Amino acid sequence: MSLLNQVLFGVYPYICLAVLVLGSVLRFDREQYTWRSGSSQLLRRRQLVLGSVLFHVGVLVIFGGHFVGLLTPIWVFDALGVSHGAKQILAITAGGVAGVMCLAGGLILLHRRLFDPRIRKTSSFSDIAILVILMIQLMLGLATIPLSMQHLDGHEMVKFMTWAQGVFTFQPGIANAVADVHPIFKLHLALGMTILLLFPFTRLVHMLSAPIWYLNRRGWQLVRTKRAMPIQPQAAAPVYPQKTDAVWPSSTSAFKTRR
Ligand code: HEM
Repeated sequence: MSLLNQVLFGVYPYICLAVLVLGSVLRFDREQYTWRSGSSQLLRRRQLVLGSVLFHVGVLVIFGGHFVGLLTPIWVFDALGVSHGAKQILAITAGGVAGVMCLAGGLILLHRRLFDPRIRKTSSFSDIAILVILMIQLMLGLATIPLSMQHLDGHEMVKFMTWAQGVFTFQPGIANAVADVHPIFKLHLALGMTILLLFPFTRLVHMLSAPIWYLNRRGWQLVRTKRAMPIQPQAAAPVYPQKTDAVWPSSTSAFKTRR
């Protein structure tokens, strides 16, 4: 068993998961105003809608499929009477369709981000880099399909489930589970973990906003005004930041009504 394999699939997963959790908590705690999708919808909408719908539907199906497929204990599938072969075929078909949708949508989004000068200007290095990395990961994922078709009984897939579940249950020597799989699978697993590592430092964090905020719409709204100050009754006027960004709770209608 090579040392590289041990490090990549026995140690690296824990580094990535630790950075994912701690990094996300710290970013949420210290830099909440950067916790957003950084939408460029205002700059060019039509291409965004098509690309975004394809990308997001595809990626949500893939994430759901990966989560359930890799982390559901194998005995659950056995108890439900779902054979390994049936699960492998489901992963190939549903994952394949979702992967193609996601790739098509992502390439539209990447094209828009690279070739629309205004959107390019407002994009950070990480906005572009993470999209490129996701596209590479998708291509690697799709490249696993012809390999998976060579073992439709699902025995390779069981290795990935054993590995993923072994990581979460701290099984020693768990890297051995994937020691002999095809290098394309290994690249896909390694880049997948790297995406988890980068997650807190990119706009991907907005994924966590849905469960945290959107359900009851708490949070903050950044209001930019050209006025020196929002109009307030003089006597009661509190001190607001002048000629600068004023931050208001989104639940407050005071600013709107007094404008
Ligand atoms: C740590 C993260 C990830 C792990 C461990 C992982 C693991 C896997 C495995 C084991 C397979 C082969 C399934 C089989 O046929 O037996 C696969 C396939 C695939 N992956 Fe991932 N993956 C990860 C992240 C991602 C990401 C971020 C994307 C795309 C955004 C992605 C897209 C795909 C696609 C399109 C396929 C082929 C269709 C399928 O079999 O579902 N993966 N992945």
